[in-house]
Amino acid sequence: MNSFSAESMKQRLVEIRRRLHEHPELSHEEFATTASIERWLKEAGIRIVDYGLKTGVIAEVGGLKGGPIVAVRADIDALPIHEETGLSFASVLPGKMHACGHDFHTASILGTAFLLKEREAELQGTVRFLFQPAEENARGAQQVIASGALAGVSAVFGMHNKPDLPVGTIGIKGGPLMAAADGFVIEVDGKGTHAAVPEAGLDPIVTAAHIVTALQSIVSRNVSALDSAVVSVTRISAGTTWNVISDKAELEGTLRSFDEPVRFKVRERFEQVVAGVAAAFATSARVKWIDGPPAVVNDKKWADTATRIGSRLGYQVIEPTPSPAGEDFSFYLQQTEGLFVFMGTSGPHEWHHPSFDLDEAALPIAASFFASLAAEALVELKTEL
Ligand code: NI
Repeated sequence: MNSFSAESMKQRLVEIRRRLHEHPELSHEEFATTASIERWLKEAGIRIVDYGLKTGVIAEVGGLKGGPIVAVRADIDALPIHEETGLSFASVLPGKMHACGHDFHTASILGTAFLLKEREAELQGTVRFLFQPAEENARGAQQVIASGALAGVSAVFGMHNKPDLPVGTIGIKGGPLMAAADGFVIEVDGKGTHAAVPEAGLDPIVTAAHIVTALQSIVSRNVSALDSAVVSVTRISAGTTWNVISDKAELEGTLRSFDEPVRFKVRERFEQVVAGVAAAFATSARVKWIDGPPAVVNDKKWADTATRIGSRLGYQVIEPTPSPAGEDFSFYLQQTEGLFVFMGTSGPHEWHHPSFDLDEAALPIAASFFASLAAEALVELKTEL
């Protein structure tokens, strides 16, 4: 039976998590983190596979008798936030913090690797561990894929800690779980003039104001009540002083959506609205999209398997509310089947808060859950063959 328990290694996982927490590194700078992960894996006798990544680690357990491959992914990077938790193991690096709990993900999945290594001979295939760099800038997953580390993988599993779920609760659902997170910049071109003589120019601020208002109609008038999307304008800049009408205005913001048809419909309407409003005021405007990761869309089959395993291990499995945050795990799910779950951590604050923290009792739970899921997935895949 593929049930694993990491309770006896809880103290070790706490030490690892605190060590990572003290030394947070930003996306693409995870050199010390990479070295630490490699050291912990080597100490456990786990093989590291070189895919040429500058930061991040790929490791494997099992495969002694061939069989399918499943992957378990943990992101390892931190954020440019100054920590305000006051914890004894708070960041020693000013302005950098594990404020999204990727230290928790890394420590937990190391625990998964330790557990599976202890029973390596029983595994019906290979479990490949993706300690992925640069999740926060949404580049890391694509780099891991480009390195070839996803080749041959039949299913990929991952998680995000969830502060608003209690420890011992796992949020599992098939279908969309996290949003596509696109950014946009709108540049409005007008014609500068004296503020007292507006008829001699074309005021880009008036255009920008109407664009902001008109954009609010896209979700309410073009997206079905059964679908969802968010359009937020988060920055407007134009002008320099009180008596000059500027010749340019710039708007910036984000679009969040949960499936591709909605995403592209909103983008299409967005461009039409911006161009139309700009033309109505005899100005012009350009939209530049900053493509974010697509939505995380889980496979129902693996959600069912994971639900069964979570319940068998004695955890509370719930169907979570999807999050409008983005997550580059979605790139893996475009390549292969898999599942992304929310792990309850009873945190006092949301992700990216300077006092973000979590309950370390969730470490062995996450480690046990993913060891059990990976081992069980290999059995299911082998049976399918
Ligand atoms: Ni995160």
